[in-house]
Amino acid sequence: MKKRRIYIYPSILSADFSRLGDEIRAVEAAGADGIHLDIMDGHFVPNLSIGPVVVESIRKVSRLPYWAHLMIEDPQKYIEPFCRAGVDGLFVHPETGQDMPGLVERIHRQDVRAGIAVNPETPPEILSGLLDKVDRILIMTVNPGFGGQSLLADQFEKIRCIRAMVGPEVLIDVDGGVNEHTVGDVVRSGADVLIAGNAIFAQTDRGAALHVLRARASAAWTQNEPK
Ligand code: DX5
Ligand code: ZN
Repeated sequence: MKKRRIYIYPSILSADFSRLGDEIRAVEAAGADGIHLDIMDGHFVPNLSIGPVVVESIRKVSRLPYWAHLMIEDPQKYIEPFCRAGVDGLFVHPETGQDMPGLVERIHRQDVRAGIAVNPETPPEILSGLLDKVDRILIMTVNPGFGGQSLLADQFEKIRCIRAMVGPEVLIDVDGGVNEHTVGDVVRSGADVLIAGNAIFAQTDRGAALHVLRARASAAWTQNEPK
């Protein structure tokens, strides 16, 4: 039986921003599969973070895939600037009320992968009609805006439900409160991509923290594997 692949994407929101390049190199050396970039505008979420200028500058430090998570009110305005900054993939939120199929098409036209990110209170049905168009689905397991929050356990059912809806080609990212204690349930519910901010960048040894997550994720999957 083919072994299931789990991807770990550290979220640099919890990194030391005075040393972003070193932080990315540290997680790359520890075996990160990609980098998760949280983009916040102070409207869609109460917090502010980085824009295309910073993304373009950190793009140079690693060849890992970079996926940007657009937590912004008006994503249609920023698709091309983020694509030009060198991201490999972009997540957009349907809660913005914008035309998701249209945005996905525009992202793909830039030769960039596209994903849909859903907030905790958003029902899975919002994805119907989009599943054959997107490369990834991101399920928020905290209310978006800040790192270091506790995972909302009522989201496990939603992960299972979305896992059943999507085919094997579409990867499921889980974002928020993923740590060594929650990762087992996250993997068992059907996540492919683990996004982790605090669980990696709030630890002194980023590499060791990533290895712990990887080991716990593999253990959870192995226990679940049909004999
Ligand atoms: C929250 C962001 C997350 C955040 C996760 O709005 O979308 O990517 O960085 O951080 P942790 O892993 O600390 O919950
Ligand atoms: Zn995120």
